[in-house]
Amino acid sequence: MQTKEIRATSHESRATINILGIETSCDETAAAVVADGRIVKSSIIASQTKLHEKYGGVVPEIASRAHIEKIYPVIAEAIEQADVDKDDIDAIAVANQPGLTVALIVGVTAAKTLAFTWDKPLIAINHLHAHLQSAMLTEENLQLPAVALIVSGGHSCLYDCQSPLELKLLGSTIDDAAGEAFDKVATILKLPYPGGPSIEKTAEKGNPNAIKFPRSMLGPDSLDFSFSGIKTAVLYYCHGQDMKGENKVDSMTSEQIADIAASFQAAVIDVLVKKTKRAIERIGAETVLLGGGVAANNQLRTALQQLCDSYKPAKKLLIAPKQYCTDNAVMVASLAYYKYKAGLFADLTLEPRASSE
Ligand code: KG4
Ligand code: ZN
Repeated sequence: MQTKEIRATSHESRATINILGIETSCDETAAAVVADGRIVKSSIIASQTKLHEKYGGVVPEIASRAHIEKIYPVIAEAIEQADVDKDDIDAIAVANQPGLTVALIVGVTAAKTLAFTWDKPLIAINHLHAHLQSAMLTEENLQLPAVALIVSGGHSCLYDCQSPLELKLLGSTIDDAAGEAFDKVATILKLPYPGGPSIEKTAEKGNPNAIKFPRSMLGPDSLDFSFSGIKTAVLYYCHGQDMKGENKVDSMTSEQIADIAASFQAAVIDVLVKKTKRAIERIGAETVLLGGGVAANNQLRTALQQLCDSYKPAKKLLIAPKQYCTDNAVMVASLAYYKYKAGLFADLTLEPRASSE
């Protein structure tokens, strides 16, 4: 069922707007209370990393069950830590797309229940747009338009951002997302889950120029991404072209593994930076926003800073604070503030959606 978005015009305005945000799109159960879109009163995250570790990826049924166990304790803790009670809360916001529907439905059901029983407006949030919001969280003087690069476990997207609520998708992944490639390459290299931080740490001791892995640009004008080719290139490098060779990883030295990790990371970052450059020039961006789990990567942060500094005058780079790069509910409550101000509310027919609208 399509979610109806209701534009309310006569919502009462108060001095401080406190929004309770809820996030359950993948493997983090999170709740937060944020005042006026930027004052973080609480942020609680119950991570499921340990539960999925042995499978090398998120198992939807396990994620769903863990969200059901954690959702109410996490919300209760967020409210307690914020030192508010239900009367101080102005709206309930929830990420309802994109993500694992069996995971999203837990947050959506909790949010609808609270909105109904507490008689509060309900706000539906796009998880990817919320990631972008976490890059703007602390900025008071945002120069627009901005190019936003959102790189996470499930998505790699470039947006033209004219305001927090006016986002135009410029390009996205046609196969594996950037974070997914990090996770899969970490599995090939037998590095611990989640793969992104493991690859980054291992790469510190490696040579990024040791192996020339492919950089898929998808044509001179494309702003889409493809990372499955580089993942396969790493696989062939480790197992032989026909996949019949012995698994060389077990007999590799730690230096060789570090060189693969560093060369892989450099190739992914190279593509992300070049595509961001294309997007900046396409829309004449003043600012670049970086968010999503992969935005925690220091090499990516440095490379994008170098890109922004190469312009005269330099482009402003805003990166999500590290604690808000990976999934959290602060970004949900923060973006919801702008929807609240615009009177964009959902009704109780709100449903989860696997893909982005
Ligand atoms: O945004 P996020 O928490 O979840 C999704 O919405 O997908 O992103 C998780 C992804 C994982 O693929 C993880 O490996 C990646 O972000 N990641 C990193 C780093 N930290 C997390 N990738 C590269 N370098 C990192 N330091
Ligand atoms: Zn995410």
